[in-house]
Amino acid sequence: MKRVFSGIKPTGHLTLGNYLGALRQWAEVDQHRADALFCVVDLHALTVEHDPARVRRLSRQAATLLLAAGLDPRLCTVFVQSHVDEHARLSYLLECVATDGEMRRMIQYKEKAARERERGGSVRLSLLTYPVLMAADILAYATDEVPVGDDQAQHVELARDLAVRFNQRYGHTFVVPKATLPPVAARVMNLQEPASKMGKSDDFGPGIVYLLDEPDVVRKKVMRAVTDSGQEVVYDRAGRPGVANLLEILAACTGGEPEALSAGYASYGELKKDTADAVVEALRPLRARHQELCADPGYVERVLREGAEKARAMARPVVDGAYRAIGLLPPLEEPAAEPMAAAGAPTGPGAVASLNAAR
Ligand code: TRP
Repeated sequence: MKRVFSGIKPTGHLTLGNYLGALRQWAEVDQHRADALFCVVDLHALTVEHDPARVRRLSRQAATLLLAAGLDPRLCTVFVQSHVDEHARLSYLLECVATDGEMRRMIQYKEKAARERERGGSVRLSLLTYPVLMAADILAYATDEVPVGDDQAQHVELARDLAVRFNQRYGHTFVVPKATLPPVAARVMNLQEPASKMGKSDDFGPGIVYLLDEPDVVRKKVMRAVTDSGQEVVYDRAGRPGVANLLEILAACTGGEPEALSAGYASYGELKKDTADAVVEALRPLRARHQELCADPGYVERVLREGAEKARAMARPVVDGAYRAIGLLPPLEEPAAEPMAAAGAPTGPGAVASLNAAR
């Protein structure tokens, strides 16, 4: 069975874009077809200015929403990144394989760093090294496939390069992963800025449908979506991005095709109304399940604890293998309870095994 790994960053409230573009696919497809891990990547939320209490709150909320979206801990592993030390352990080794130039070429880094500098702010070093930590997330689990949006394709490509380079230099250690992009046009755009993605960390609040928005708020946001000049409802992504976005959202929620759906509408108003209803319906079960889970925080905590244990058990041997391969000494055995044998030779199966492994 294929190993699948993906992660979601707790930098904002999760959106309709996260759901249609990722979570729904994870729940409906990936967890059934693969040995899948889904991770709230909280360490990644620290690469830009952050409020500790907010990160904690958003991490717990993201984990709860993953379960509310239908991830089933009997089928997949749901956990929080910082609960498993292997990510940070492996990240350092990969920093010793990646180059400075490679990091500075990352598109997302260039954009985010430029934006930060424009604001007169400083850029955290972790923003530069972030793709290495992401590579560690992926490689620690011998991941075959990484379902991500296309904005993450370059980072997965880096993970591949690092895996190949490490294997060539130090012997076969890592599975070389590949990105799998979401099949349908599940790229939801901001309702007020249809040229940019509906991202959770963005500032265009009125154009973002949050998963926990009340139904009347969802309706209002969809009804106020920016449409294009013109009257007829046609599906034209480049020429009519606002209408195309609504048609794609409607299609994603109802299982239709944007092009075919466009024929059924004579006005933008009707399209918006149906889209609003479809979004509210699509989110209804998720909201209901979220409420149940919030009433039972002990359950979520237990899922995350067991998830972290399972994840650790998978990552540990891979990362230990990388430590050996790159030239680090194996961990020292606990001193034996009885005095060492006279010759000072190590005793016990553990000691012998670790010496052998060191050769
Ligand atoms: N960088 C990803 C994002 O911003 C989140 C992420 C972190 C991730 N580690 C990952 C995704 C590992 C897939 C696999 O969306």
